[in-house]
Amino acid sequence: MFRFELICSDGKARRGRLITPHGIIDTPVFMPVGTQGTVKAMIHKLLEDINVQIILGNTYHLYLRPGPEVIKLAGGLHSFTGWHKPILTDSGGFQVFSLSKGRTKDNRSGVRVFEEGVEFKDHLSGSLHFFTPEKVIELQEILGSDFIMPLDECVEYPTTYAYAESALLRTLRWLDRSIKHKRREDQALFGIVQGSTFEDLRILSATATVERDLFGYAIGGLSVGEPKDIMYDITQVVCEYLPWNKPRYLMGVGMPEDIIECVARGIDMFDCVAPTRMARTGTLFTHSGKLNITNEAFKKDFSPIDEECSCYTCSNFTRAYLRHLYKSEEISAYILGTIHNLSFYQKLMQDIRIAIEEGRFESFRRSWMERYSSKLC
Ligand code: GUN
Ligand code: ZN
Repeated sequence: MFRFELICSDGKARRGRLITPHGIIDTPVFMPVGTQGTVKAMIHKLLEDINVQIILGNTYHLYLRPGPEVIKLAGGLHSFTGWHKPILTDSGGFQVFSLSKGRTKDNRSGVRVFEEGVEFKDHLSGSLHFFTPEKVIELQEILGSDFIMPLDECVEYPTTYAYAESALLRTLRWLDRSIKHKRREDQALFGIVQGSTFEDLRILSATATVERDLFGYAIGGLSVGEPKDIMYDITQVVCEYLPWNKPRYLMGVGMPEDIIECVARGIDMFDCVAPTRMARTGTLFTHSGKLNITNEAFKKDFSPIDEECSCYTCSNFTRAYLRHLYKSEEISAYILGTIHNLSFYQKLMQDIRIAIEEGRFESFRRSWMERYSSKLC
């Protein structure tokens, strides 16, 4: 039911294909974030228009609202949302730690980790919940997402060696419980490599996770405030310990330059809120860097956001008009900005895939980076 086919490679960069019950995904892929079962400021039709092949959902959010009973009654997340292409759901391992902490005065009491699972206060009502590895698998079996993630312990940066080690060992024990509990054959489980910024811990985590023989391997606990070169180095080291024939997913990454750098180190799958979240604050991507469309400089600029972009927004609207929509806080601003930013990411991934196929990824990477950092508005 699930397959990962490697089509070709160029250096460490890989061009592949993921086959799932809901469709095929060309890799390297960027997965837009649809936390609540919708990509913000988009509708499914618009995602399909720009050839999005997979979106991400969050177990944490969907568990809190509308709740598993509703999604179960609807027949799963695909029928509930009307998105019939592949879906990957995150386990809540990250959201529990990032959204629950800081609700109370001592900054940590929102979440407590036990061997059995994690207790947290939700970010909506503040009420108490308990996630176990088994419960998170069951929730994702109700959701029916194609790719599911095990409950993990994602530690913040910086952290101590001892804490990073205990968290990765717990993540492994939770992984074993997840594997044991998983029932559905039409869902593929990933393992998540943790270990913070400690190379030897990352190697230990990668090696032990690979021993569990999963469909694919994710790298978690990065892009949590560490310097970029450390993020790239850890990604590179972990990839060296992952099997060549299985998909590799770098969680929560990243900016366009991070995607190129991490494809160069062997990553196949990415997700990040950046293109959608930044679109809603007026930060738009162009081939020569980011711009903020609300700047005075664009008041009488009747050119498109990016001359080279052929998205609906760039084909029909000027910077001046878009700036006006943003300044007026019109809903269309967020929609048009998101269409552009996601199209920019889609084009980036397509260009990456073609460059790998044609064996010129290194020169593509060099020229793309040079241009992207040439001018910042
Ligand atoms: N998203 C970004 N980083 C992480 C991580 O470390 N774990 C999980 N579960 N999701 C993530
Ligand atoms: Zn565009």
